[in-house]
Amino acid sequence: MTTDEPAISRRKADHLDVAASGRAEAVRSTMLEHVHLVHQALPELSVAEIELTTTLVGQRLAAPLVITGMTGGTAEAAQINRDLARAAAARGIALGLGSQRPMAEHPELISTYQVRAVAPDVILFGNVGAVQAKAMGAAAVIELAKRIEANAICIHLNTGQELIQEHGDRDFGGLVATIRALVSASPIPVIVKETGCGLSSQAARALLGAGVTTVDVAGAGGTSWVAVEAVRAADGSAAAVLGTELWDWGLPTAVSVVACARAGLATIASGGLRTGYDVARAIALGATAGGMAVPMLRAQRAGGEAAVLEAIDRVIEAVRAVCLLTGSRTPRDLQRAPRHLGSALATFLADLELAEVR
Ligand SMILES: Cc1cc2nc3c(=O)[nH]c(=O)nc-3n(C[C@H](O)[C@H](O)[C@H](O)COP(=O)(O)O)c2cc1C
Repeated sequence: MTTDEPAISRRKADHLDVAASGRAEAVRSTMLEHVHLVHQALPELSVAEIELTTTLVGQRLAAPLVITGMTGGTAEAAQINRDLARAAAARGIALGLGSQRPMAEHPELISTYQVRAVAPDVILFGNVGAVQAKAMGAAAVIELAKRIEANAICIHLNTGQELIQEHGDRDFGGLVATIRALVSASPIPVIVKETGCGLSSQAARALLGAGVTTVDVAGAGGTSWVAVEAVRAADGSAAAVLGTELWDWGLPTAVSVVACARAGLATIASGGLRTGYDVARAIALGATAGGMAVPMLRAQRAGGEAAVLEAIDRVIEAVRAVCLLTGSRTPRDLQRAPRHLGSALATFLADLELAEVR
């Protein structure tokens, strides 16, 4: 990192280091461990019959997996995005890029987001914060997505992180109207994602009302952005104190998946998914696909594209195994597979009027 790189790029580099280090993981769980799928000793299926192909934002994925948006704006980010893109394209899964705010403010940083040259066919999602989208307007957001040839635009919500970040945003009004205007103007699908605090039923209904059809819950239980900012803040500062207090803030991923899927949204389950078993349990709760950020970052840092390929393969093999073991030929069958929900999750869902009616 050179000293003449923009401050926003230095912040992004910091985020990569803190998130990859594991120092900013939620202490609370995703609650996916409370999803007990019923073993079928007679699945009457062969592994070859399992069909993981999934449609998401009109694109055909070879398996229900998304590498969710992380980075852009630095030299390391450029390498990460290219390695992730090549691996995602090779396995037919989708890739999200990190916030394009650095690129909006410093157009010369576009090369750190451009992956089409190395992965022409990758299913690619652009990324802009909802607050920035409000400030820049729909046309500018669409232009940012167009310049990197994205198949869809992710609009991220990160209220928790901004409140902890020194000089972070403090005004979160008017974001539903911003999203509605973008959805109606955009020639490509708009995905709304959280970043580690989850989406509630109320948020899901507001997004449906704004015309959104696909969300990424990014619930609590994995990388915590409140925690990332708490770790970055100076010891004893107000940001460090508040960030430590709210470290685990958010709706657990399992609860958020049920809230969004039940509302009728195509749902990417992310936030703390660490294995294919986690992905399978999230699909059983109604998700269309699982999403992972930090596990893929760690793989890339450990061994570049080859290690990312291995990590993806491990996840897909586990999803395939759980499909077979539950007698599910497809992820859609897995959504209906018999299960028991542990009482902590069942009670949480019942309290939010999300209990399963069977
Ligand atoms: C280093 C890093 C940077 C991230 N940057 C962004 C971002 O720019 N935009 C965004 O929407 N989400 C961003 N995220 C959030 C992830 O997409 C994801 O929602 C969150 O990390 C939870 O998933 P995980 O527990 O698998 O890491 C970032 C995550 C990481 C680890």
